[in-house]
Amino acid sequence: MSKIKKALIPAAGLGTRFLPATKTVPKEMLTLVDAPIILYVVEEAIQAGIEDIILIAGRGKYAIEDFFDSSYELEDKLARTGQTHLLDRLNHVRDNANIISIRQKQALGLGHAVLCGAPVLGNDPFAVLLGDEITLSDKKNSSLTSQLCEIYAKTGNTVVSIMPVEERDVSKYGIAEVEKTAEKYFRVKSLVEKPQPTEVQSRWALTGRYVFENEILSVLKEARPTLNGEIQLTDSMNLLAQRSAMWASSFNGVRHDAGDKLGYLKANVELALKNDELGPEFKKYLREVYTRIKE
Ligand code: UTP
Repeated sequence: MSKIKKALIPAAGLGTRFLPATKTVPKEMLTLVDAPIILYVVEEAIQAGIEDIILIAGRGKYAIEDFFDSSYELEDKLARTGQTHLLDRLNHVRDNANIISIRQKQALGLGHAVLCGAPVLGNDPFAVLLGDEITLSDKKNSSLTSQLCEIYAKTGNTVVSIMPVEERDVSKYGIAEVEKTAEKYFRVKSLVEKPQPTEVQSRWALTGRYVFENEILSVLKEARPTLNGEIQLTDSMNLLAQRSAMWASSFNGVRHDAGDKLGYLKANVELALKNDELGPEFKKYLREVYTRIKE
């Protein structure tokens, strides 16, 4: 079984839920405490042993590519003033992964964004991590993506991450009908993108982390636009699930959709509270502001 060495991070969406902020700033570049969302996503991929990271960027999203590039003037100044540690997180990325950028010329949907990576993905299996979602694992040194890679290593089949959602939220997600297996993970029977709660029995939603057999690319090549005129990844996953086994793993950690205003605020608060330097003071402030505003 080949190990997962490639990951694709779609980051070419229009970010309409976060306008006006995202008119000129890509949503994946919005800051969580002191780093853009996309850095957390890239770090999760590296933690899972991924070596080649394919960023799918769109028009006006050059800030994402620039972020992972070197910046000679700044780095020279930091070296002269003994502050190179300020770029430690970026150096860790550079030392451990190749960042490859591909342009999605038009935001034709997540399925289309994944297909744009085909020339670099070749015949290999690969992970997909949505560029505007972050996950905080409850297990130390084991990210959600690494948990999916472990299941792929055992089964050789596509594995997706799922989480339970409330009935009122079903229409916001890709929903998976699953059945129990003797293992810790489920078998996926079918998938549907953003259904009405009455259309499905299941309350299991896709979380934005996947490991795919290369076969998904052949399915995507034949895909046509459906919901919102976009090529939906979920449609092709559903076809794949009918052809070969597909597994789903329930995620116990925390996941934030930082491309959504409320999700973004929650992610910032949680990461700030967990931050060694800022956490204690920030916690005091939150208590104080809560008491003040509640009155
Ligand atoms: P979303 O549906 O959350 O992104 O896609 P969006 O289209 O930007 O969302 P709105 O406009 O706020 O509703 C999930 C991820 O897939 C990427 C997005 O950038 C995001 O990281 N994506 C989506 C693409 O790369 N290409 C697309 O055509 C659509």
